[in-house]
Amino acid sequence: MTMTVTTRGTLPSYLTEGRAVFPEGFVWGAATASYQIEGAARDDGRAPSVWDTFARTPGKVAFGHTGDVACDHYHRYADDVRLMRELGLRAYRFSISWPRVQPDGTGPINPRGLDFYDRLVDELAGAGITPYVTLYHWDLPQTLEDRGGWTSRETAHRLADYAEAVYARLGDRVSNWATLNEPWVQAFLGYGSGIHAPGRTDAASALRAAHHFLLGHGLATQALRAAGAQEIMLVINSSPVVTPAQSADPAAELSEADAEAVHRVDCLLNKQMLDPVLRGSYPEEVLRIVERHGGLDHIHDGDLADIHQRTDLIGINYYNPCVVRSSPGEPANPAWPGTEDILFDGVDAPKTAMDWPIVPTGLSRLLVRLSADYPEVGLMVTENGAAFEDVVTKDATGEHVHDTDRTAYLESHLRAVHAAVEAGADMRGYLVWSLLDNFEWAEGYNRRFGIVHVDYATQRRLPKDSALWYRGVIRENGLA
Ligand code: NOJ
Repeated sequence: MTMTVTTRGTLPSYLTEGRAVFPEGFVWGAATASYQIEGAARDDGRAPSVWDTFARTPGKVAFGHTGDVACDHYHRYADDVRLMRELGLRAYRFSISWPRVQPDGTGPINPRGLDFYDRLVDELAGAGITPYVTLYHWDLPQTLEDRGGWTSRETAHRLADYAEAVYARLGDRVSNWATLNEPWVQAFLGYGSGIHAPGRTDAASALRAAHHFLLGHGLATQALRAAGAQEIMLVINSSPVVTPAQSADPAAELSEADAEAVHRVDCLLNKQMLDPVLRGSYPEEVLRIVERHGGLDHIHDGDLADIHQRTDLIGINYYNPCVVRSSPGEPANPAWPGTEDILFDGVDAPKTAMDWPIVPTGLSRLLVRLSADYPEVGLMVTENGAAFEDVVTKDATGEHVHDTDRTAYLESHLRAVHAAVEAGADMRGYLVWSLLDNFEWAEGYNRRFGIVHVDYATQRRLPKDSALWYRGVIRENGLA
């Protein structure tokens, strides 16, 4: 199958028209994360996470926004589940707040914290919606960060203990468990560039953190498996890595230097996470880079065996491709060790409100490639979506958000997933990011990714046109 990456907003016809019906049993749903929607930051014994601390640090989050109230989902979960049911969702991916369940990240479990998820899971069961639980979506208990956070291997062991405690309470009703969300992002944005919590800026720390995340995945997987978990997933941010020339024409010839740049960034972005988990080894390029930035001492004998545990699914969060080219003399990027002499380039495509290029062909390309390279594991799109400048309008029938740009984004990406299925990728499902507008990390509430609009002053939920369109897609199991 040949695929062209979008340029100048022109999509190949397979991404704009025709029937695209998905295999039977394909999972349809939406995703959220605890700190982004729950609020109730001090309720029922919850302790601060690194994001509470970071959001309170002046200049770190746009407008000084915090997750203190967010979508108040902690108190409104029953209404939110009703809404999910009305929208026809079959699956709901949410994350558990570690500092709610185990306030210090170690030691006693806070039963009131688990009570919330217990109620949520029961509510979902009543609505016929399958829970996909992510154990860790970036809200590390601050106490653990104070002891070194993810630069300390202790944190990996604490994640396993926490996973076991959550499983003990919810495992009778939850079959699908994701250990971590986007470890690459938290390692390199949290400990490298510092634009995410905990805001540290040290290349060696970012690389150490990345390894400890993987170790945490392995140890938590062992704990979950021993306790009887059925399906275990690692959720990663993943992008195809291409040069500007390849983004216009996948068959473009590359210079040796560009081919090397593509390979190196692919190793750092994709294979650094996938190879240890699925193959039990790091790519040589990654080890060379780690050696140059702080050394390899934190990678202990036996770690790779601990990390290389049977993982049933890889969750793919896809937003845009990664466009690079060799550029000798480029200033070193301390946030991303190993990418000195590489330029991160743009691509000629329409952009979302995040300024991210809209390239749905990148998704088909990625899924086909990952499925071919790692045939032992199933794939699920665990996040895909877009922020746009939504406007609430009013007419005789009521209030609306006519978010045609988001619907177009979702449709073209769904068609890209379908194209990957047709090309043989082992795709299990698709979850929109996000169910609700929410706290978009360093961007605060300023960026809206929801298919449901949230009025933060009143907490009113208003399904956008994209949500109503998505309901039809789910009903038809695709684009009929
Ligand atoms: C990935 C993250 O998992 C999610 O928390 C975030 O809101 C989206 N990307 C959009 O940036």
